[in-house]
Amino acid sequence: MTDNQDRITIRRPDDWHVHLRDGAMLAAVAHFTARQFARAIVMPNLSPPVTSAASAAAYRDRIIAALPEGADFTPLMTCYLTDDADADDIASGHAAGIYTAAKLYPANATTNSAHGVTDVTHIMPVLERMQTIGMPLLVHGEVTDGEIDIFDREAVFIDRVLEKLIRDLPGLKIVFEHITTEQAVQFVDSAGPNIGATITPHHLHINRNAMFAGGIRPHAYCLPVAKRERHRLALRKAATSGSASYFLGTDSAPHEIAAKQSACGCAGIFNAPYALESYAAVFAEENALARLEGFASEHGPDFYGLPLNEGRVTLERIDGSIPDQIESSGSTLVPFHAGSALPWRLAAD
Ligand code: DOR
Ligand code: ZN
Repeated sequence: MTDNQDRITIRRPDDWHVHLRDGAMLAAVAHFTARQFARAIVMPNLSPPVTSAASAAAYRDRIIAALPEGADFTPLMTCYLTDDADADDIASGHAAGIYTAAKLYPANATTNSAHGVTDVTHIMPVLERMQTIGMPLLVHGEVTDGEIDIFDREAVFIDRVLEKLIRDLPGLKIVFEHITTEQAVQFVDSAGPNIGATITPHHLHINRNAMFAGGIRPHAYCLPVAKRERHRLALRKAATSGSASYFLGTDSAPHEIAAKQSACGCAGIFNAPYALESYAAVFAEENALARLEGFASEHGPDFYGLPLNEGRVTLERIDGSIPDQIESSGSTLVPFHAGSALPWRLAAD
């Protein structure tokens, strides 16, 4: 396989980190993810958050109802951990096949995280149970201490929280979500096979300058924020290395255009419509197209202990422009790469 090739066929991929929202926004975005991916880990930061197995099952039903007729897509549900999370409810939700994993949002770290965990020590009994039953913990890895510079919050989280967590619970499977720093790459590379990490397309494409290119750019703002160029390069190296520790997680996080273009705009980049094309561009630029399948379709299921998908998808090297805006079910959304071009297209089924 060479990287001048103009077609690549890979096993159908999964998205190990997505925000599908609820109500009108769910109707507007679900089909984009279902077109690109066979399964997705659906984040539970709704308002109110998904904190019980019953609410996760009801949310799963709403997602399935929002899919286009005949869509072949499985939402994998997560539990939003709070200080008073109940180990029994979480374990029984996992045993019943409702929960695939549980998500740790440090309180106030990001969108709808006010109910998140104020201190990991409060949920140790839950984490011990998750370790016992083999249920993965998904971590938004940023400290929320206002004294810590926003660009340092991930690195400080590693030092203050993650290092100790993996010492105390060496058997707990942890996904360090949407990593953005070379410190995170070093941490994952030196940890054992119980630690994985997702990497978004946007953190592979943009560095922090993108938020300020000629003016303030709300559509390049997400959390964790993009960092310096050297961090982006470390992420590209990790994603394209072939290491089984890294897998695809878009963190596609749609917000209405008015909520982004505001005096206090929401964090989140909506990349679902062209996510695979966006990743393929990076892998091709890094001469690593042969490793796209591992990252997109194999490392994630292997980490989660789930079967690989049977279908295949084809990407073709065709220059295509990305629209400035997408209108869908009454919502107006600005996609990642809006107004520019990507050299790949997912072939129609
Ligand atoms: O940019 C982000 N948006 N980061 C997150 O952690 C949450 C997400 C959202 O839900 O909007
Ligand atoms: Zn997210």
